[in-house]
Amino acid sequence: MSKHITVLAGDGIGPEIMTEALKVLDALVADGLDVTYEEQLFGGAGHDAKGSCLPDETLAACQKSDAVLLGAIGGPVYDQLPREQRPEKALLALRSKLDLFSNLRPAMLYPELADASSLKSELVAGLDLMILRELTGGIYFGEPRGIENSDQAGGGAPSNERRGYNTMVYNESEIARIAHSGFRIASQRNGRLCSVDKANVLEVSELWREVVTTVGQEYPDVELSHMYVDNAAMQLIRAPKQFDVMVTSNLFGDILSDAAAMLTGSIGMLPSASLDSSGKGMYEPVHGSAPDITGQGIANPLATILSLAMLLRYSFDDAQAANRIEMAVSQVLADGKRCQDIAAGAESISTKAMGDAVVEALNVVAVA
Ligand code: IPM
Ligand code: MG
Repeated sequence: MSKHITVLAGDGIGPEIMTEALKVLDALVADGLDVTYEEQLFGGAGHDAKGSCLPDETLAACQKSDAVLLGAIGGPVYDQLPREQRPEKALLALRSKLDLFSNLRPAMLYPELADASSLKSELVAGLDLMILRELTGGIYFGEPRGIENSDQAGGGAPSNERRGYNTMVYNESEIARIAHSGFRIASQRNGRLCSVDKANVLEVSELWREVVTTVGQEYPDVELSHMYVDNAAMQLIRAPKQFDVMVTSNLFGDILSDAAAMLTGSIGMLPSASLDSSGKGMYEPVHGSAPDITGQGIANPLATILSLAMLLRYSFDDAQAANRIEMAVSQVLADGKRCQDIAAGAESISTKAMGDAVVEALNVVAVA
């Protein structure tokens, strides 16, 4: 039976980059890939058309389909909405409702782009690390949370001021399932897993470290290490090639994955996958909706195209189609084609021209 993808183009540059990713998908379908897709409204686009950033039809479509491909959401107009109605909240709700607890954020540097990094090229040449971020728990979702008058909450602050608070909380089972993902991924890569926490200060991290260590006994072939998050941030900038897979909590992973993305100098190149326990997933570029360049036709579609490759690999188990896309992207870079974000001031091509170049390269790599 053919597999079905729900496509959420979203806001800002989302529709522009998604158009190019769908061109690539159409080309593969024309070549026999048995996949269908349908587009749904999400984010600001959903808010404008249906009054909700996550319309019911969109959620239902995502729940029914085998995978979700997302462009980007959000923009300055929507920042004015009440927090509960904003696109970011809809993204968190979708992650949670689909139970996408395992977020893979690879940071790899294409040899052709070593000069795009802000670090010396010898520090990053050949960089290939995977950040695995827990995505449906921790301080992002923990209760209690809120902003309230201090006299409501107790807590000793003078009653004329408010206090804001969140809760960083993990159950053992939540830690164990992301730890298992981390060990499995590490065993398919270079066999090293670094678990990142703040166990010198936080009890939640103390439990995290204990559970990861226990799970590790089931994976004798993976070398497990632990690192405090502040040191991990420093090591990422100092010597990023020491890492293979890093597994960490929701908030720490949010921060470290942005740092890791920048090591490559080209956030416009990085895909990501968010998976549930059965391998169903949502795939999206690591970058955001980039309101500053929206509508100019210059956004880099490669992260979305590479997200499609991850979708085919992880949710549809089609390594061949995934490899074909990834080889086509490498080919296009080797040919010297660059969008503005990775052109380092040299000549660049448009979003559309980049999509066309990848489609063309698909045929070349298929023949080769
Ligand atoms: C990310 C983003 C989101 C997050 C925002 C947009 C809610 O920063 O995917 O990293 O914090 O998870
Ligand atoms: Mg982030």
